[in-house]
Amino acid sequence: MAKVKTSFFCQNCGTQAPQWVGKCSSCNEWNTLVEEVIEKSSGTKIPFSSNSDKRISKPQKITEIKHHKEDRIVLNDKELNRVLGGGVVPGSLILFGGEPGIGKSTLLLQTALKQPQLKVLYISGEESEQQISMRADRIGKKEANCYVLTETSTANIFRQIEEIKPELLIIDSIQTLHSPSIESSPGSISQVRECTAELLKFAKETATPVFLIGHITKDGGIAGPKVLEHMVDAVLQFEGDRNHLYRLLRTTKNRFGSTNELGIYEMTGTGLREVENPSEILISGNTENLSGISIASTIEGVRPILVEVQALVSTAAYGTPQRSSTGFDLRRLNMLLAVLEKRCGFKLGAKDVFLNLAGGIRVDDPAIDLAVVCAIMSSNADIPIGSKVALAAEVGLSGEIRPVNRIDQRIHESQKLGFEKIIISKSNTGIKPEQYEIEVVKCGKIEEVVRSIFG
Ligand code: TYD
Ligand code: MG
Repeated sequence: MAKVKTSFFCQNCGTQAPQWVGKCSSCNEWNTLVEEVIEKSSGTKIPFSSNSDKRISKPQKITEIKHHKEDRIVLNDKELNRVLGGGVVPGSLILFGGEPGIGKSTLLLQTALKQPQLKVLYISGEESEQQISMRADRIGKKEANCYVLTETSTANIFRQIEEIKPELLIIDSIQTLHSPSIESSPGSISQVRECTAELLKFAKETATPVFLIGHITKDGGIAGPKVLEHMVDAVLQFEGDRNHLYRLLRTTKNRFGSTNELGIYEMTGTGLREVENPSEILISGNTENLSGISIASTIEGVRPILVEVQALVSTAAYGTPQRSSTGFDLRRLNMLLAVLEKRCGFKLGAKDVFLNLAGGIRVDDPAIDLAVVCAIMSSNADIPIGSKVALAAEVGLSGEIRPVNRIDQRIHESQKLGFEKIIISKSNTGIKPEQYEIEVVKCGKIEEVVRSIFG
């Protein structure tokens, strides 16, 4: 009998080692090497198997390679199109990660059901046909042109694909697939890698776009080797808090578009709803007489979004004051508190400070600084800012109000949503305050901002 060939694979980074060692030589993680069978002697032939490469490609002159200029497939989902950079590129492999229960299967099934112009094949290794059909009933499947297959063997999947010839393929999830050309169990590093390689080959050779759902690990990375992220064309992350209704779709890698686009959905009883005007959901509205609340005009990707910042400043009950922040970088909060203390004379050293961005959103845009500072000052003095004031500026280490990019878009968005005043940096040149209906106030120092909003 032929000897079974095995090798050791790091479950963290996918490195292969001939024998077991305690520490992976590549990523330095401990105890991550697992023995996997790598070769199977039986000669099953899979159409798109990565080790049955017969086609030999020849070098071509780059000017002679033909491609269609604008051949993206535009889906009936504005948020997904936006995040992908304007639609799906044919032949692209898109990895879709997110925590369990966040709505990955729901979003992709919904995408499949909403494309009457495309023949979609939805392959599930996690749910039965009945379960998928029940879910489709909730979402609504009137106009669907979608086939469902519950199968986990890639050989069988490719056989069905050859028959159905789908124009879009969805795999739920890559960790449940197994290729008969490899012996190890589904979800192991070598299986995930082999199945992805087969799907990649299929996608590139037939120009069919493929969506892969991938599970994520406890610390938020996509389970399986890092190589998986290198193999695919785009990596999308579906995030959000299960207690909040809103879900954010981000790209962490995109070969055909920008990575700072953001898609926003709301989970409803009938699937995920696209949120076209996110500012409306992120501002609670009835904040007229509440202190500690300010509105920041931020930009996510190319879209301006108004975000509500809430702060609570109270006298510390115990010796060491607490600082806590949700949705905003804690180190940046500590820096802004130090600026307020040192440059503006606020005594916050013995106070607890809690900061929260409404709606469970996370913002990295520096233009939110001024809103954070104002919310803290408002809570500290217990004076409301008023719900008709928006803020958009960065705060520097010496308490100066620094300019931010795309100020025109920020002002327009605030004006559109009925704000009466927006405070920006006086160094934001190039805009004329008279050209807007909204009052544009330019400030150079925090003291000027305080005078402008607290009178
Ligand atoms: P699911 O798509 O199964 O998550 P994942 O594939 O990421 O693990 O999401 C399931 C959750 O979504 C579940 O808690 C029920 C909820 N849900 C709705 O609220 N409304 C709906 O219409 C559907 C289909 C699911
Ligand atoms: Mg699922």
